[in-house]
Amino acid sequence: MLHSNTQGLHASWAGKVPIADIVRQVGTPVFIYSADALRYNVTGVKRAANDAGLGHRVRLYVPFFPNSNPHVLQPLRDEGLGLLVQIPAEYEYTSGFGYDDFIVSPGHISDEEIGYWANTGLPMFLGSLGEVNAALEAGSRQVCARIDSLNSGKPGIKRDELIELRKLLDEYGATMSSLEVYCGSGNSQEEMVAAMDTMLSIHLGHFPEATSLNFAGGHGFVYEEWQTEDKHFAWEPYFSALAQRVAAHGVSDGVEFWFEPARDLLADVGMLVLGVKRKIVSNAVHNLIPTDGTRMLMPSAQLRDRHHNLVFLDANFKEIQPGPDAMPVSIRGRTILRNDYLLPREYAAPPDLAAGSYLVVLDVGAYCATQHMEFLNVPPAAEVLFDGERRTVQVVTERGADFDKWRNVCPCPRPLDTGLSA
Ligand SMILES: Cc1ncc(COP(=O)(O)O)c(C=O)c1O
Repeated sequence: MLHSNTQGLHASWAGKVPIADIVRQVGTPVFIYSADALRYNVTGVKRAANDAGLGHRVRLYVPFFPNSNPHVLQPLRDEGLGLLVQIPAEYEYTSGFGYDDFIVSPGHISDEEIGYWANTGLPMFLGSLGEVNAALEAGSRQVCARIDSLNSGKPGIKRDELIELRKLLDEYGATMSSLEVYCGSGNSQEEMVAAMDTMLSIHLGHFPEATSLNFAGGHGFVYEEWQTEDKHFAWEPYFSALAQRVAAHGVSDGVEFWFEPARDLLADVGMLVLGVKRKIVSNAVHNLIPTDGTRMLMPSAQLRDRHHNLVFLDANFKEIQPGPDAMPVSIRGRTILRNDYLLPREYAAPPDLAAGSYLVVLDVGAYCATQHMEFLNVPPAAEVLFDGERRTVQVVTERGADFDKWRNVCPCPRPLDTGLSA
């Protein structure tokens, strides 16, 4: 179905951003983030936890990989939230920016990496029996494990392995410190509440000694909506469902509840401004808007078919409505690639959209800039942080340089020691 712009930038923080000044100084494409929006989202989740009487037992660890700019995530630190890291470089890099509250939730990792994380003393959620075994062999006696409750392809101990996991811990005299249950991304309220039951039954049935239950991420976010409150996961009923189940199952008061939300907290704190490079190209095959973006700015690895809202701006940054003559267009990136479309579907566009105008793609704060690549030699976009409360607008990532793609290419090939000689 054709998606049309009915609301515009004024529906969100984006309407307050000095886009013209930013574009004049850093050009396009540019990601712009709002510190105020992130504070607002965090406050909402905390309030919901407090209202359900769980405030003192809920801890939020936001994954670093969906938006990997330490400046953008600074409000999380200010609000007392922790970070989830999955590779050592993330941990070392963010520590350098003063982050000091971490959990580790990696993919499948080597024994050496298990040793690295064990030395940090951080809770490390392991995703297979072999990895738990390696941690036990290395001397760990308090284990954290990720359970793949869906039996999906995600790294995680599968449900039919729980009895073996229990036996393994018992053999080493170890205990389960925390259980993470991954239940997919972009889930409905019902699915997330159902996952609570799974989690509580695994906790009480197999690992009653765990002192925290980690509900991971996956809290749904609705890209198509325009109003903030309609986009976000409904945390109030979710936390109150948890409070009810915790009371009904008699879960011990000492057990904490951890969450790892990324998309719900981060998606609507970012927008992407693209330059329109030509008027609409219209022919027998398609109608498209040529932009200076590229699909590789936001390849959307997890939810490929998500439908971001779009706003059209003229050359003076005034919003243009598609109007009654709107035509269906695709949003084209700048490379030769046949599939270089930034967004998966078509949009209703003003037919007279001119070269020199702009497009704003909303809700790009999670899984966008962090995934961009110098694919087909196009450098990454700049990132700017807008903070209305502190009255600052700052570049937090410089635009990639034209020659970045080749920055690691050796000026002269470096011979390796192999015993071969010419
Ligand atoms: C272990 C883990 N926690 C949290 C998240 C964040 O999920 P979401 O962005 O859906 O909240 C992910 C996403 O892949 C994940 O793998």
